[in-house]
Amino acid sequence: MSQSRSAEDSTSAVSEELQGRIPRHVAVIMDGNGRWAKQRHLPRTAGHQAGVTAVRKTVEHCAQCGVEVLTLFAFSSENWRRPAEEVSVLMRLFQLTLERESRRLHEHGIRLRVIGDRAAFSPDLRRRIDESERLTRDNRKMTLIIAANYGGRWDIVQAAQRLARQVECGELSGDAIDESRLAAQLSFADLPDPDLFIRTGGELRISNFLVWQLAYTELFFSDVLWPDFDETELNRALVEYARRERRFGHTSEQLRHRSRAVSST
Ligand code: FPP
Repeated sequence: MSQSRSAEDSTSAVSEELQGRIPRHVAVIMDGNGRWAKQRHLPRTAGHQAGVTAVRKTVEHCAQCGVEVLTLFAFSSENWRRPAEEVSVLMRLFQLTLERESRRLHEHGIRLRVIGDRAAFSPDLRRRIDESERLTRDNRKMTLIIAANYGGRWDIVQAAQRLARQVECGELSGDAIDESRLAAQLSFADLPDPDLFIRTGGELRISNFLVWQLAYTELFFSDVLWPDFDETELNRALVEYARRERRFGHTSEQLRHRSRAVSST
């Protein structure tokens, strides 16, 4: 059997297992670049470079599967604590990747958005981000969100500050603040919460990623190091997600009753 035939067969086997249960929003912590490089006696930065290839594959496969939003955690607010040389390589890599890939994203109908505090980025990087977002803003096939200098707590704090300003100037009363008003001020206000969270690299933590938005998200932890993350491992996560029962506080019986009621109408 040819290689492409066997890839086709495995894709259709996976599609059957998914039964149309594709997560609308997938959020990923791409961890393990440093360890991948160390295993090969390479500098950590070589791991980040190899990570870009895994980013490309993941974007392509998610778009093919019909995922609407893919969020990748590229640089956390805490990553500034890394050695200056590594931070500077990561920034250069981010800028270079935007330069090289924006046109391709655009050709594939993918909208790019960057979330996080941009104030600390160089003017060149900020300009590049603006240009890539402008180029792709009308695309609808999939939205790719790069979280850069992002922290979940930072996001909640800046949302709280915006609400506080509205209260200060009398536009809003403190008692009127509820979950939906706060959520409306977060970076992701116009997007669905993630359905599936994936963390590679074997660590079992959220690490200040989307702390508000992950409240009801299905979590999937993979031992694969990010540069080795590929279609097979992503399919494993998608199949596992498709098998989960999402109850949102209800009981299994209530969900079964509801789906019977829907199918009989
Ligand atoms: C974590 O691995 C990875 C990062 C902090 C950076 C992720 C960046 C990329 C994949 C490349 C650039 C991405 C884009 C979107 C342009 P680690 O260094 O913490 O690995 P370790 O846990 O093995 O040390």
